[in-house]
Amino acid sequence: MAIERTFSIIKPDATARNLTGAINALIEKAGLRIVAQKRIRMTRDQAETFYAVHKARPFFGELVDFMISGPVVVQVLEGEGAVLKHRDVMGATDPSKAADGTIRKLHAKSIGENSVHGSDAPETAAVEIAQFFSGNEIVG
Ligand code: PPS
Repeated sequence: MAIERTFSIIKPDATARNLTGAINALIEKAGLRIVAQKRIRMTRDQAETFYAVHKARPFFGELVDFMISGPVVVQVLEGEGAVLKHRDVMGATDPSKAADGTIRKLHAKSIGENSVHGSDAPETAAVEIAQFFSGNEIVG
């Protein structure tokens, strides 16, 4: 399987509970390497651009408000089949449906406050990474 990169966000509900290290441990245990990471506060513009694909969905406003409600940690993860590997370790979007041992099963509070984001495909990952990182900030 090819070495890929994916984009990850540790969301405000998780940073508020000091879970960055616990989540990173699960990411690394899954065989992914954190090749870029920074803690930021997203602006409303950044969050609206990032989630533009969900603009028509009823929860869009709530999702944007949540993502700017506190610090987030944005990351680039690298590894074999990184996109799928990361989605596996995150678990289902709705934590009540997430498998045992996944980040969302262990830590997420609800379908909205679900602790982590991960890209859904390598093409999406490239766009999402470019929104938050320049090339020289990623050290493989
Ligand atoms: S998926 O896996 O991306 O297709 O999941 P999806 O259900 O389409 O959800 C997309 C993102 O929207 C968030 N979400 C919600 N936020 C607030 N309220 C409700 N009800 C809600 N439902 C979904 C969900 O956490 C996904 O965020 P990201 O950051 O993409 O994981």
